[in-house]
Amino acid sequence: MIILGFESSCDETGVAVVDTARGLLAHALHTQIAMHQEYGGVVPELASRDHVRRVLPLTRKTLADAGLTVADVDAVAYTAGPGLAGALLVGASVAQAFAWARDLPAIAIHHLEGHLLSPLLADPRPEFPFVALLVSGGHTQLMRVDGVGRYALLGETLDDAAGEAFDKSAKLLGLGYPGGPALAAMAEHGDASRFELPRPMLHSGDLDFSFSGLKTAVLTRVRAAEKDGGTLDDQARADLAAATQAAIVDVLAAKAEKALKQTGLKRLVVAGGVGANKRLRARLAQSLPRLKARAYFPPLELCTDNGAMIAFAASERVKAGLVTLRRDEHAFTVRP
Ligand code: KG4
Ligand code: ZN
Repeated sequence: MIILGFESSCDETGVAVVDTARGLLAHALHTQIAMHQEYGGVVPELASRDHVRRVLPLTRKTLADAGLTVADVDAVAYTAGPGLAGALLVGASVAQAFAWARDLPAIAIHHLEGHLLSPLLADPRPEFPFVALLVSGGHTQLMRVDGVGRYALLGETLDDAAGEAFDKSAKLLGLGYPGGPALAAMAEHGDASRFELPRPMLHSGDLDFSFSGLKTAVLTRVRAAEKDGGTLDDQARADLAAATQAAIVDVLAAKAEKALKQTGLKRLVVAGGVGANKRLRARLAQSLPRLKARAYFPPLELCTDNGAMIAFAASERVKAGLVTLRRDEHAFTVRP
């Protein structure tokens, strides 16, 4: 079965085709980062309008790259939430229109399930069961995954997400949007030991997280420099960036290790935008062998939002028998 998938929950328009038998055939992506940059964050109305502009050209490209035509598609899939309402509606309405026109089933996919299953697109592919550390701009969760559709929440953030902590700290350091990669790049030239930052909830005994205090701690350091009549110089900003990254990575890695110990599982899957962070990857590569465990990541270009993970999640759900493939159901709702 050939599934055409659409992702449009935030600032990336993604389209992909997955064959349930052969896997990912092609995917295309347009990121709106440059467009939102001058506003310092995603402007929802601009995001929706840009998805409208991009989605059909990307669909044509994806099908052409896969050597397919619209007649080859057997089902469509789309991100139904969470995300920005207007942005989600673009992908949902294009998918449902396509399905209606061609008399095909349309499959609604939860964006986080897309991230969660994306490491299965990598080689080697992790076996079930595994612990998943889901770290995106909106979510920070640890989950036990026993199979497709069999997810148990082990812990999550009580306030900001890890990506949000990266983004907000980056903003305080005067860096542009999206802050995570910018802060990570700046941290490469910094000395993390120059600033002592808190590791919130490191010893809380559970698998929950909290990042809002960290952001406040960064703000306090920036304000302290300003109070003395100055600003942080370039080296101090790099040092503070490195300290912030180290604090976030420490907490994420420590809680992921704790989840492995608690569940007795030996496989950790890291998914979501923050999974692209090099320090997090290096830290886990170093610490997990001590637990006789191993980390799995999605291919780097599939860490942040993309259509491949949505079409793939639909394919996995179909194969697991979790989808009723109805051709007469084209009303659509999105869940922001
Ligand atoms: O998964 P994603 O693309 O979108 C959401 O579903 O939220 O994640 C985006 C988040 C942003 O907060 C971004 O700053 C962060 O992932 N991010 C990074 C890196 N690349 C993306 N954070 C730290 N280091 C990176 N290299
Ligand atoms: Zn995402």
